[in-house]
Amino acid sequence: MIELAHLTKQFGGVTALDDVSLRIDAGERLALVGENGAGKSSLMNVLYGLYQPDSGTISFDGVPTRLRTPAAALARGVGMVHQHFTLVPTLSVAENVVLGHEPRRGLGLDLSRARTEVAATCASLGFELDPRALVSSLTVGSQQKVEIVKALHRGVKTLVLDEPTAVLTPQEATELFAVTRTLSERGLTVILISHKLKEVLTFATRIAVMRRGRKVTEVSPQGTTPEALAEAMIGRAAPVGSHAPATPGPVVLSLHQVCSQGLVDVSLELRAGEILGIAGVDGNGQRELTEVVTGLRPFTSGVLTVAGQRVDRLDPARARALGVAHVPEDRLRRALVADLTVEENVSLGRHTQPPFAKGPRIDFAGRRARTLELVNANDVRPPTPTLRGGALSGGNQQKLVVARELDAKPKLLVVNQPTRGLDIAAVEAVRERLRAQRLEGCGVLLVSLDLDEVLALADRLVVFARGRAVATFERATFDERLIGQHMLGVAHA
Ligand SMILES: Nc1ncnc2c1ncn2[C@@H]1O[C@H](COP(=O)(O)OP(=O)(O)O)[C@@H](O)[C@H]1O
Ligand SMILES: [Mg+2]
Repeated sequence: MIELAHLTKQFGGVTALDDVSLRIDAGERLALVGENGAGKSSLMNVLYGLYQPDSGTISFDGVPTRLRTPAAALARGVGMVHQHFTLVPTLSVAENVVLGHEPRRGLGLDLSRARTEVAATCASLGFELDPRALVSSLTVGSQQKVEIVKALHRGVKTLVLDEPTAVLTPQEATELFAVTRTLSERGLTVILISHKLKEVLTFATRIAVMRRGRKVTEVSPQGTTPEALAEAMIGRAAPVGSHAPATPGPVVLSLHQVCSQGLVDVSLELRAGEILGIAGVDGNGQRELTEVVTGLRPFTSGVLTVAGQRVDRLDPARARALGVAHVPEDRLRRALVADLTVEENVSLGRHTQPPFAKGPRIDFAGRRARTLELVNANDVRPPTPTLRGGALSGGNQQKLVVARELDAKPKLLVVNQPTRGLDIAAVEAVRERLRAQRLEGCGVLLVSLDLDEVLALADRLVVFARGRAVATFERATFDERLIGQHMLGVAHA
């Protein structure tokens, strides 16, 4: 039905697409997988008319066609739901769906007709969406449904979903796949971009793998395994981590009915030598929790104990002195200074202590030596102390931040989204460091929106919903479904 032939696209010096050819058959469920930066979104943005290819052609039913705008793509029946939604928060569901091609009555917008149509589409897909609800009042999962309804409303025949489950709970993801199956049974072609191999294998009728701007292979889900797919994505066998039993020591962090802006009566305990995972949908108090325990946010009531010491007020310097290290979610805003060199970044926060200083002066040789030790031990590439921090790739920046924080030999390590945006090899490297830290007796507080990550690493997990710790699970009783229900606030405790 659609034929992408020899597509090439450069951004500055970066080759996003390198001679990519791909056939898209009517009614299939095609998955597009690859590491971060492999070119998946670029390829689909070309098909959606958002990017113009430098060379190559797109043909619909054999006719080469230029798609200069998304409107041109939509006219050819191609719709796309992006990773970042494009809804107007202050408008209702129905208004968002019809925005741009509203049903008209005379000169005015026929809102009641729009509502009826939207309600019908939702009903046919099993979406529980109120057409009158303001988009700003909806969960991320529901906003995504609005995006899908909006695309269908424009009569698309091919729907591209770019990493749709990254923002969903397991239940919502399962529901999304059920809906895509319904849609494809009705004849819609669905293209799913993902790097989650398990879900790709359950979703797809065909899988195309991209690596560094090229399409490296196409496989059928029956003819492959997650391991083989990972290998095709990264070009070599993927490392796998194991989970040794924990040997918990003394309590290194305890919260008793702690309240702060964004947190309500939170009680939890973390011991040395264990990883406590925090699961939850984005924006349910996880960030506030990490900020309170690292001294970045005041708490208004409750009892906070860090490394055996009750603290009434905590600031980042005091937290550090008590043995708290922090790998924040936004490494470029809070952990790393892009314009400082790698070695300056390594000494950040410790620049008055040996080996970074000798008395009041910077110890340049000591700093260089320690930096070289750290970058080599942690496989930061390139291992160049004088390089700007901003010149490292995301994965290497994160490896550097983790290396620096662990170098302080913390009792409590607080990590928020430690592997977001990293490629598979870097993800495994960072996770391995966290596991090693736990075995060395550090207590690790792990916040991640990626439930798979929490399940892979945590000895125990606490689910956060609306600023509260609503449920606790031990590793032996991790139950994805039940955890997801608590994340959504629909489980009965
Ligand atoms: N609008 C853009 N401007 C500059 N570079 C871009 C742009 N879009 C993509 N790239 C670059 O193209 C490469 C492929 O990116 P992308 O298609 O987003 O990969 P993926 O979706 O597989 O993660 C990356 O190196 C990315 O930085
Ligand atoms: Mg992408």
